[in-house]
Amino acid sequence: MKRTEEVCRVPRSKEEARTSYNRLSKAYDILIHPFEKKQKQAGLDCLAANPGEKILEVGFGTGNNLLAIARSVGEKGAVAGIDISDEMLRIARRKLEAKGLAGNAHLTRGDATQLPYDDNAFDAIFMSFVLDLFDTPDILLVLQECKRVLKKGGRIVNVSLQKADTLSNRLYESLHNAFPAMIDCRPIRAGRSLEEAGFTVVEERDLSMWGLKVRCVLAEKGQNAE
Ligand SMILES: C[S@@+](CC[C@H](N)C(=O)[O-])C[C@H]1O[C@@H](n2cnc3c(N)ncnc32)[C@H](O)[C@@H]1O
Repeated sequence: MKRTEEVCRVPRSKEEARTSYNRLSKAYDILIHPFEKKQKQAGLDCLAANPGEKILEVGFGTGNNLLAIARSVGEKGAVAGIDISDEMLRIARRKLEAKGLAGNAHLTRGDATQLPYDDNAFDAIFMSFVLDLFDTPDILLVLQECKRVLKKGGRIVNVSLQKADTLSNRLYESLHNAFPAMIDCRPIRAGRSLEEAGFTVVEERDLSMWGLKVRCVLAEKGQNAE
């Protein structure tokens, strides 16, 4: 199996991503969410959302993290979410409504490389298993957008597959390269990308999933950031 230092590419258009996640939306909570639950919870613990905060989730999927964040920020806070899939948005909105949490939740269908929010709008941003499905040049675009919409001193938490030279990671990357439409996400170096985008990494925590490396990274936008 070929060893490569480089992060694999994701040869997929935004429209293909939208179609693919629309198709997956109804099965997501049964087929995928249970296997990622622990890692997402670790990310939410690291985010430690406080009452009254305004928090954005990028790529919220079926909305499980949004529910937890909406509960934590409470009525005085607000949660916003952006996702490219209309079907994911429909499911997430229904869940928030069912739990009486839709009042302070603002969901948008859109592409995270162009966030439709004002500069310095959020106290914190959360992402889980999303950054690792953007093609390499887009990772930086997404993080630069996150930095723009985050308040000075604000924090970002990212949970994603982590690049590592292990047999299981290399096997997984080979499968990703062979079947990119089916195995869309791949290991990345989130901490390094966050630093490249101008964040300061505060904490990195190693996790695993099916023998693959997963990393939770907490980073901050400095008080003097542009
Ligand atoms: C693997 S799912 C993860 C969902 C959720 N974060 C979770 O942990 O359950 C990835 C999500 O990212 C969304 N997504 C993919 N490309 C996107 C883009 N360009 N902009 C915004 N969201 C996108 C998908 O529609 C999908 O809901």
